[in-house]
Parts: sequence; structure tokens; C-alpha cells
Amino acid sequence: MYRFLYWLVLQRLPAEGTHRVSFALLRVLVATPGLGALVRRLCTVRAPELRVHAFGRDLPGPLGLAAGFDKDAKGVGALLALGFGFIEIGTVTAEAQPGNPKPRMFRLPRDRAVINRMGFNNDGASAAARRLAHRPPGIVGVNIGKTKRVAEAEALADFTTSAERLAPLADYLVVNVSSPNTPGLRDLQAVDKLRPLLTAVRAACDLASPLRRVPLLVKIAPDLADDDIDAVADLALELGLDGIIATNTTIARTGLATPADRVAALGAGGLSGAPLKQRSLAVLRRLRARVGTKVTLIAVGGIENADDAWLRIRAGARLVQAYTGFIYGGPLWPRRLHVQLAAKVRAAGLSSIEDAIGADV
Ligand SMILES: Cc1cc2nc3c(=O)[nH]c(=O)nc-3n(C[C@H](O)[C@H](O)[C@H](O)COP(=O)(O)O)c2cc1C
Repeated sequence: MYRFLYWLVLQRLPAEGTHRVSFALLRVLVATPGLGALVRRLCTVRAPELRVHAFGRDLPGPLGLAAGFDKDAKGVGALLALGFGFIEIGTVTAEAQPGNPKPRMFRLPRDRAVINRMGFNNDGASAAARRLAHRPPGIVGVNIGKTKRVAEAEALADFTTSAERLAPLADYLVVNVSSPNTPGLRDLQAVDKLRPLLTAVRAACDLASPLRRVPLLVKIAPDLADDDIDAVADLALELGLDGIIATNTTIARTGLATPADRVAALGAGGLSGAPLKQRSLAVLRRLRARVGTKVTLIAVGGIENADDAWLRIRAGARLVQAYTGFIYGGPLWPRRLHVQLAAKVRAAGLSSIEDAIGADV
């Protein structure tokens, strides 16, 4: 049904507009008395074998919605109602900002991919904090980034401002140093810059949330050289970081079925979806080899179905996330993936998905 609707209508509409309208419709639907409960009942998967423990919390399933879909925490309850095990909001920056000029999001249907150069359009940390203060139950991670107008020398203070405002409201906090659409941001992945940044954000979290230690994660790019991935992994161990999210979008444009001139005409931005699959998996495997089970790994990048999620979990991911797979799969996709994943757990003769984590390592 969704595929037919997508083929007939949605693929002809501008990607960002479609996102805005469908997300607004979903929020209205779930807020309508009676209908919200119905959506929740139809989409939530109650499969004990999918329950997974992470960051001191029990999640109903390992599939979460990746950052970027709900940048401003406007629809956490509606998205949880679709059957995601958790939602990551953001990227939120300390100051509100409009992002890059439109158009800035493009579908590549032949590649089941998206190119975006949104540039952290968001209402800022205070607005996100106000919304999160009234969020419904469920696991919500908060992803923070650098305000564009802030120079690299002031990046640390910018990140800690967001951390202080948002950590008390987050089940986990992510330092995003991997989006390709904020100039200079990815340079912060170099460990000599990342170490003081993560140390300062850790301190800000502890100051703002003295009674509950907020788990801290970093999200990395798939374009890092292997040595740099190892360096981030070592830093995570050194600092006692709670997790690493691998990966963000790539600036590469290799192996696409969409004609090269059309891709080039779309301009700069991060590529997500199916073409990212192999590299994201390779980064995950490299991280796992380096950190073992000491750091929680969240796999994201090109996850389209239960086979992809299963492979990442067996490669060492405790949780998985997706954005592009959800766009192409439609509103019933999270439920479908969880149902199929539960069947895989049972077919493997396991009673819990926890037993599959890292099974291929
Ligand atoms: C339109 C769009 C906007 C995104 N915005 C963010 C963002 O604000 N912060 C972030 O950390 N990742 C962002 N991402 C990256 C995703 O969270 C994810 O890491 C990436 O798309 C790879 O996963 P996928 O192949 O399942 O889409 C964005 C992705 C897309 C497609």
C-alpha cells in the first residue's frame, strides 16, 4: 500500500515537504483520541525475545529512529507509537538556526538512498528542552551538534551549553561530530580535539544531572580512515565513553545506479541509505574488534530490513538505527522489521536477542 502510494504520489513531491507533511499528519493522527491508542496497539511489537538492555534501561526492541528525522523533539510520542524501540532527536544546536537554503534533501530512488545538506536546521537547545520536558514514556536519546555561526575555538562552550540544557532530559546524549553539512565539524573527530570536547561535555552532563549519570556517546563518519576509527575507539575506552554510533552519512558517491551527472547536479551533502551499507558495517566491525564489549555500539547506515539489522547485531551492535530505510519503507516498516527480527531470534534457537549480539565475532 505504502509502496504504491510512494510510487504514485510521494516520489514526485519534494523530499523535505513530504517529510514535513507526513510527519505532521502522523502527529495529528496519534494525538486524536482513540486513534493514537489504535496505532500503538497495531504497531507496537510485544516480543519478549527482542527486549534489550542498554544505557541502564530496558528497550522493547533494538531498532531505533536515527537522528535527523525529529530534529526538534516535536513528535517523540507519535514515532514511538509506530513501534520503534527508541528515538534519537536532533541534531540540536545551542542556538536556533535555519539550516542551508532549500532544496537541501533529495531522494535517489534507484539507489534507495537520500542526499541531504540540511545543515542542522533546528529551534535550538532551549526549545528542544521545553518539548522534552513533556515527553511521553519511552527511550529518547538527544543528539547535539555545533551552532554554525560559532567558530571552532568556541565549539566546546557551544556543545556544553546544549549538554547542560538537554542532558537531564535525555536517556543518552550523543556528541555529533560527523555531519558533513556544518563546515569544520568533522575536524573535531581528530582525537586531540575530540578528547577535550568529550571531557567537557561529560563534565557538563554531570553538573546538570548530578543524581543520574547520563550515558554519553559519540557519532562518527563512515569516511574516517581506518587508523582514525581505531583512534576514536581507543579514546572511547580511555574516557569511559558509553557508546559509539556508526555511522553518519558519507560524502562519497561511489557505486550509485543514479546517473553520475544527475547526482553531481544535486550538489554537496551526505549520502544515506543502501549505498552506505557495506562501509557502515565495516566501520562497526572495526570498532567491535577494538573495543570488544566495553563500549555499546549502535549501528546505523543502510539498514533496510531484518537481515541487515541481524547482521549488524551479530557483528556486535547492541542497537540499530535507521532513517532512509524508514522513508522508503513507510509507517509500518519499524513494526515489520521488529516482527521479522523476532522470527530470526527464534529461528536461531535463541530466547533473547541479547545472545545474538556479537555472535559472529
Ligand atoms: C535528511 C537527513 C537528515 C539527517 N540529519 C541528521 C542530523 O541532524 N544529525 C545526525 O547525527 N544525523 C543525521 N542524519 C544521518 C542519520 O541519522 C544516519 O546516520 C544516516 O542517514 C545513515 O543511516 P540511514 O542509511 O539509515 O539513513 C540525517 C540523515 C538524513 C537522511
